[in-house]
Amino acid sequence: MALDSKIQGLYSNRLLELLTQIGQIAEELGLKAYVVGGFVRDLLLGKANFDIDIMVEGDAIPFATKVGQELNAECKLIERFHTAHIFLDNLTLDFSSARKEYYPHPGDLPEVSFSNIRDDLYRRDFTINALALSINSNQKFELIDLFNGELDLKEGIIKVLHSKSFLDDPTRLYRALRFADRFKFVLDSNTEYLFDKAIKLSYPSSLSTKRIAAEIEKCFKEKYPLSLLNRYRATGLLAYYHKSFKGVTRPDFSFSMVRSMTTRLRSKFPNIIESAVYWSLFLSSIPFTESQPLLNNSGLPHSVGLQTVNTLSSWQVILTKLSLANTRLEIYNILKDTCPETLALLYLKNKNKEIENKLNLYVNELYSIKPSITGKDLIEAGIEPGPQIRQILDKIIEKKLENPELNRKEELDLVGISNI
Ligand code: CTP
Repeated sequence: MALDSKIQGLYSNRLLELLTQIGQIAEELGLKAYVVGGFVRDLLLGKANFDIDIMVEGDAIPFATKVGQELNAECKLIERFHTAHIFLDNLTLDFSSARKEYYPHPGDLPEVSFSNIRDDLYRRDFTINALALSINSNQKFELIDLFNGELDLKEGIIKVLHSKSFLDDPTRLYRALRFADRFKFVLDSNTEYLFDKAIKLSYPSSLSTKRIAAEIEKCFKEKYPLSLLNRYRATGLLAYYHKSFKGVTRPDFSFSMVRSMTTRLRSKFPNIIESAVYWSLFLSSIPFTESQPLLNNSGLPHSVGLQTVNTLSSWQVILTKLSLANTRLEIYNILKDTCPETLALLYLKNKNKEIENKLNLYVNELYSIKPSITGKDLIEAGIEPGPQIRQILDKIIEKKLENPELNRKEELDLVGISNI
């Protein structure tokens, strides 16, 4: 079955041309090339996916290099793994060499050797992800379905390719639930049996904190993170990240609020990092003395880790201070150095209407109050550069919090400077 019309329907002609061009380059080099994995799965489901994995029978390095040259695109080679990335328009094309995998120890990253498409597809997690699309000209856009993945997609089934799959790579336990939850699929009975066995025999204990954190992070990117998190928790998968996430608890509906909260705050704080809000909420139920080392081992991007630590170390103190604050100035002073991720967590954790009003007052009004005059104006007016500039500006803000209508002239009068 050729899938070019499906590609055309979902994407622009440009993608079809691009894949055709890459197929031609493979042909010229005497190689067989395929699009594999999530792109093909999602194509059959009628969903667009802009992460394109291209696999070639042979070495991906010279192939990707040639593709990069011909498309005049940036190409990053990872010689050690015989993989490469090409960045083009809004697409990332990942190139890999068809390979066979061997897991020396469960949970380790595998040892690999060059091989053919069958071995490459067989080493994958589930039949629905073991589909390929040939892009060579003699077989252009033909679906390669060696393990009945298309049927499983139609029937809504997640099925492993062999009985050692979860032992080889226990992250697949998390992935199985992720795909089941995302597509509303079920595990086939043998896969479910292997899943339960894997949990009983504690396969995920061989995974590093970093690899489990990567699965949790992916959960935050799903449409319904709460539903998936609850499944991770109920099956025991979450407890491998931290022992306190054991067993079934009441769902914390704040998780379903993170996205709308982040979007709301983004209009004022464009740099807010949604992932840091998720991590902060996720870890807010365990003591900071435990969440901090856990975060250090989680391999999160620096900015996410930093804002999460900032938030977790401060939100409880801020909440207590806010409950005691009465004046606009007090509220302003408590919140003025707070990062937007912390503001989001305060909203999500708080159950008290009065505190919510104080947060709203800060975000909607106080945060935007700035002096009309600047430090530069003050220096031009003859004030020596130094901490006194900050003190003068703070004094003006203090007055403006009481009277936001204060104009430039009044601000200057206030600090005893005649007009500049
Ligand atoms: N894969 C696998 N086992 C894993 C991780 C990945 O077999 N533990 C294979 C699957 O064939 C998968 C492909 O590598 O389709 C790409 O992996 P990834 O990008 O993580 O997943 P996608 O299937 O693209 O899923 P998503 O839509 O969540 O990105």
